[in-house]
Amino acid sequence: MIGIYFSGSGNTKHCVERLVKSIDGSAVVLPLDGDSAKAAIAKTNLIVFGYGVQYSDMPYFVREFIIENKELWKDKNILCVATMAAFSGDGAGCSARLFKKYGANILGGLHIIMPETICDVKEKKGEKESDPEKLYLESMQYESKLKKLAEENRKIIKQADEKIDEVVKGIKKNIYPKDGLSFFARLAGAFGQRLWLGKRSHSYNKKLKINEDLCDGCRICVQQCPMHNLTVQDGKAQPSGKCTACYRCVNRCPKKAITLYGDKVAEQYKIEKYC
Ligand SMILES: Cc1cc2nc3c(=O)[nH]c(=O)nc-3n(C[C@H](O)[C@H](O)[C@H](O)COP(=O)(O)O)c2cc1C
Repeated sequence: MIGIYFSGSGNTKHCVERLVKSIDGSAVVLPLDGDSAKAAIAKTNLIVFGYGVQYSDMPYFVREFIIENKELWKDKNILCVATMAAFSGDGAGCSARLFKKYGANILGGLHIIMPETICDVKEKKGEKESDPEKLYLESMQYESKLKKLAEENRKIIKQADEKIDEVVKGIKKNIYPKDGLSFFARLAGAFGQRLWLGKRSHSYNKKLKINEDLCDGCRICVQQCPMHNLTVQDGKAQPSGKCTACYRCVNRCPKKAITLYGDKVAEQYKIEKYC
């Protein structure tokens, strides 16, 4: 058995690692974007495959990886794991259908609620300087009900861990969860979000912005980006059009100089603060 994940903030990494290691302590767990993922997949026939859903869909890189390596999936037994902040309908089903098309046997689907990772907010018109915590609290009220305080994030991760531990007990008896695999789930994913917002995860994201007044060229974003999308030129970070909206750089930049959907970073999400 191996675990393979694509993870921006670490939510999916946390879940896949916990699940796989609880079943087989010696199993390998690898990032999908790393050099050794393909070789490891080729060598095994049991895969736990995870990603964080985006608009009830897979991140662009994940879908492309599955398609580009279609020969890898034949006869593999796959448990599809989708982490999400609230709802995806068929988050796990999206990859399951594709894997099935390429000859895989789908063992199950698992949906795990984890904290929201989008940490940039739209600045209100006319607003000048604002305390990040205040901005965050305001955005919770006005922008997204998904943003939570630290204590609630801790609780969400604890509940996720409990769900994983229950699922592991079932898997040890050969009972797999079926989250997101039904026709009803597919309708919920499609009509709930994918039809209206899904296009956002169908190509690389070109909206990543660097605030050059704040960026000091420290290269943390360069090292962290799973897509190698960022470089530093003339002392400032520059995106190269390969962003998959994973939000890692936005959450990790020490100067809060990077934004994607918003234009100001509020409280950054770092999973290690909560577990
Ligand atoms: C661009 C984007 C889109 C998202 N769309 C959804 C969504 O449709 N439904 C949902 O419940 N969570 C959504 N989320 C939240 C993430 O799926 C969730 O926080 C996930 O655990 C992130 O996993 P990761 O840190 O491993 O990448 C979205 C997050 C981002 C960054």
